[in-house]
Amino acid sequence: VNELKFIYEGKAKKLFEYENNVLIYYKDDVTAFNGEKKDNLIGKGKINKKISVFMFELMEKNNVKTHFIKDIDETTFLAKKVEIMPLEVIVRNYTAGSFCKRYGIEKGKKLKMPLVEFSLKNDDLGDPMISDDAIIALDICSKKDLEHIKNEALKINNILNNYFKQFDILLVDFKVEFGKNNNEILLADEISPDTCRFWDKNTMESLDKDVYREGKGDLVDTYTALIRRINL
Ligand code: C5P
Repeated sequence: VNELKFIYEGKAKKLFEYENNVLIYYKDDVTAFNGEKKDNLIGKGKINKKISVFMFELMEKNNVKTHFIKDIDETTFLAKKVEIMPLEVIVRNYTAGSFCKRYGIEKGKKLKMPLVEFSLKNDDLGDPMISDDAIIALDICSKKDLEHIKNEALKINNILNNYFKQFDILLVDFKVEFGKNNNEILLADEISPDTCRFWDKNTMESLDKDVYREGKGDLVDTYTALIRRINL
């Protein structure tokens, strides 16, 4: 990896330039609460890379354009270079997490319709929620691009819901990020149990990063059980 040009290091991934593309390396690091809680969990990077690759391939099969190009090895895949939009796009099907806190409601209620929310990606500000109009007024993206992103997020929600349903897993909510490559908007970043909430349909038990956030058990064991359950 030494001769590759390092581009960026995030909380869970490292990016290197490769020809005109990027190699995305999944670290074993895990963080929560905006980096306040952190650990290195051996084997986590490998599992999340595997799930992400599978999910990007699933999206491509269902006509969602992504940055994914090809799988490289146990911890790395190749992706198109994108300019990430500074937005976290969150889709919720059931109440959980910050949504419950914000509105003072109990968790686990099915929402009347899938809900798309946006947060501004800014660690110093703690990723504040941002309205559609504020996104456009601040010229973070155009109205047309925002509509597109919203539609894609809902499409991704349908694809994921359908996929996880067969394993009796509820998709509670998830976060995705989009980026631009040659003016084309692509699904980027990752889709993994770090960025989604999955619950067992019958027991409502968490199969995702909430296990780490809430100290409910061993995260690598949880993720290993999840990939077995979904036949990966
Ligand atoms: O914390 P909150 O309830 O807003 O999270 C909603 C969803 O977005 C969860 O699935 C969580 O894992 C994901 N998320 C994320 N990265 C963040 C914030 C939330 O992946 N920075």
